[in-house]
Amino acid sequence: MAVRIVALALFALGASAALGPDIDVMVPGYPLVDGPMPHKRMSYAPLDRSKPYAIGHRGDAGEFPEHSSLAYLSGIKHGADFIECCDVVLTKDYVPICRHEPLLSNTTNADSVFPTKKRTYVIDGYNSTGVHAIDLTLKEIRKLRLRERLYSRSQVYNDWYPVITFEECIHFAQHAPRVVGIYPETKHPTWHDTLIKARKGKTTITDQVLYYLKKHGYGAALNTPEWLAKPVFLQSFESNNLAYARTKSQVPIIQLMDDFTVPLPDRSFPNYGAMMTSDALAKIAKYANGIGPWKETLQQTVTRTDGTQYLNSTGLVERAHAAGLQVHLYTLRNEPNYHTNTLTSIEDEYAYYFKTLGVDGGFTDFPGTLAQWLRNEVAKNTTWPALKI
Ligand SMILES: *[C@@H]1O[C@H](CO)[C@@H](O)[C@H](O)[C@H]1NC(C)=O
Ligand SMILES: *[C@@H]1O[C@H](CO)[C@@H](O)[C@H](O)[C@H]1NC(C)=O
Ligand SMILES: *[C@@H]1O[C@H](CO)[C@@H](O)[C@H](O)[C@H]1NC(C)=O
Ligand SMILES: *[C@@H]1O[C@H](CO)[C@@H](O)[C@H](O)[C@H]1NC(C)=O
Repeated sequence: MAVRIVALALFALGASAALGPDIDVMVPGYPLVDGPMPHKRMSYAPLDRSKPYAIGHRGDAGEFPEHSSLAYLSGIKHGADFIECCDVVLTKDYVPICRHEPLLSNTTNADSVFPTKKRTYVIDGYNSTGVHAIDLTLKEIRKLRLRERLYSRSQVYNDWYPVITFEECIHFAQHAPRVVGIYPETKHPTWHDTLIKARKGKTTITDQVLYYLKKHGYGAALNTPEWLAKPVFLQSFESNNLAYARTKSQVPIIQLMDDFTVPLPDRSFPNYGAMMTSDALAKIAKYANGIGPWKETLQQTVTRTDGTQYLNSTGLVERAHAAGLQVHLYTLRNEPNYHTNTLTSIEDEYAYYFKTLGVDGGFTDFPGTLAQWLRNEVAKNTTWPALKI
């Protein structure tokens, strides 16, 4: 494990020297953080629970290929309280790795390395065509290199960086120069578990994630001293696997929620809108510590008689807080085309969601921007009256 990490880091170091990216890649245990961050004074600083959490979405996906070593290290360097470590999918040998989807074709060079492994799976009702992690062993996946998913973002890091395992991602968080939390997501648990069963496997994706969490010292209840030393939230868009996790572990749980009309793959609720009532939130609070809603479900645009518009709460944040649940929204992105209607800058989005609505944390593709804004607010003595963390 240690040897492998060193090899990966050295690989990353070599690549960064060749490409000159704006980041100091770390040697395990010693992230070389310089630049504008007051990193020395942050050394071994505890998790800051006096303000909302900045959660590095897929690491620092706005700046580096998502779930790459660079993205995680950049998220840590730029001040994320948590790195989304990670979106978990399983390999053929059931090793948890960090990929947003079982499909590798869109974010790696898998199609050219393993052209014969292409096939179509129906994942939560959609056809997914290409090379999938579940058909490659970890050894095979080591041969792949990452590619940027969005054409609108930098492509210069393509084909240099390897796929990271869940354990390697945990290693990055645990060797940060301050307390940095992790935030694993079980991806498509119904699909994964059905496939594992068909292959006569004896595990589930949730058991695999819980196993590695326990192995690395995670699993204490929310806000206990043990949790504060190794903060973690387990997240999923399905409900049954999270309720199952609660029977096995005290690990804090966040129930993700998609748009109102989207059905849940495990059919535990007819759709996400049905999870947002006070009654449903009270049921969710029996196994979860918070919800992770899409930001567009938190507000609605109201048009005044003069034609101007403003945003008003849908009441979801208020209902979740009343049920004792934290609210961590997704996804804040700096590019203007991702901004919520009537909010014309990312700072307007931060102010609306964190100060007006009182959201407790935000997944962001640019954790550095949010962390800086939060530091500025702290310097202005901003108070967060609704904060539930
Ligand atoms: C992969 O890329 C194709 C082509 O752009 C797109 O249709 C598909 O939705 C993408 N799949 C995922 C899982 O991102
Ligand atoms: C998936 O592909 C099959 C076979 O080509 C097709 O019949 C079906 O309509 C597709 N499903 C979706 C959701 O696109
Ligand atoms: C604004 O939101 C609150 C809380 O959900 C609600 O009670 C109120 O009716 C809304 N106002 C308008 C104009 O939609
Ligand atoms: C914030 O509070 C501190 C301590 O009370 C005070 O010294 C400082 O002037 C305040 N800063 C602002 C911007 O109000």
